[in-house]
Amino acid sequence: MTILDGKNLAHEIKQEIAAEVAQIKAMGGNVPHLAAVLVGDNPASQAYVRNKVNSCDECGFESTLIKKDDSISEEELLEIVNDLNENPDIDGFIVQLPLPKHIDESKVTLAIDHRKDVDGFHPINFGRMAQGLSSYLPATPFGILQMLERYNIETQGKHCVILGRSNIVGTPMGILLSRKAYPGNCTVTLTHSRTADISNQVRRGDIVIAAIGVAHFVTADMIKEGAVVIDVGMNRIEDPTRKRGYRLVGDVDYDNVAPKCSFITPVPGGVGPMTVTSLLLNTLKASRKEIYG
Ligand code: GUN
Repeated sequence: MTILDGKNLAHEIKQEIAAEVAQIKAMGGNVPHLAAVLVGDNPASQAYVRNKVNSCDECGFESTLIKKDDSISEEELLEIVNDLNENPDIDGFIVQLPLPKHIDESKVTLAIDHRKDVDGFHPINFGRMAQGLSSYLPATPFGILQMLERYNIETQGKHCVILGRSNIVGTPMGILLSRKAYPGNCTVTLTHSRTADISNQVRRGDIVIAAIGVAHFVTADMIKEGAVVIDVGMNRIEDPTRKRGYRLVGDVDYDNVAPKCSFITPVPGGVGPMTVTSLLLNTLKASRKEIYG
């Protein structure tokens, strides 16, 4: 069994990106500039955005953080999005989700100029991805593809079972892994909360990708011997032995599942760090105007 070390791989990829940025700087080129909009004080969102900004620093990118109180109106947030769309210094930007309940997330996503949508959430980027055209790929599926590729994991002809049909993980992951490409050429089963006998579906998976947000949902009896298991879950469970009173666990019962796997991602340190490298790679593409000219 091999542990897919996302932390180490993300570090390696960030070093490669930093070397490219150093070269861009030496040639007097356009230094990538990412902006992030953070609304409210959700601790997980704060931590994610901090990590994104720090990663920009590590790679020599410029970054701008716009923090707003959760009392901000939808109209004010849309104005910020519009300003970022029009600001020529900003190559790409993200609005961290979730947003407060009084703000319509899809309205905000649609307001982002697709040419600066480095999260890949805009329907134009999603649609282009679905048709196999170049686009900004959403961070988590893109991170998983990078991981499969860097570890030379065979995907062609494999049966991939995905748990969860979200717009940002499960659904795009299914589209990407069924493409005629590497990584890809999988036969994909997309399971969700209404799937009948989900255990039997998961048991058929040569590659299992868990993204449902339920701690330890995937148990050893659901996993085929030799499967590749990718855990996107990031769930807090109570743990009085920890100073903060909780610990983070994935959607997979790691201790019991790992011995049956050929490859498995840990939580934390698996998929999580790879999502940031995706965002950096998309921002680099945006600064080079690779996709939309
Ligand atoms: N919230 C959880 N994941 C993400 C992400 O990839 N991008 C944004 N903008 N918000 C998120």
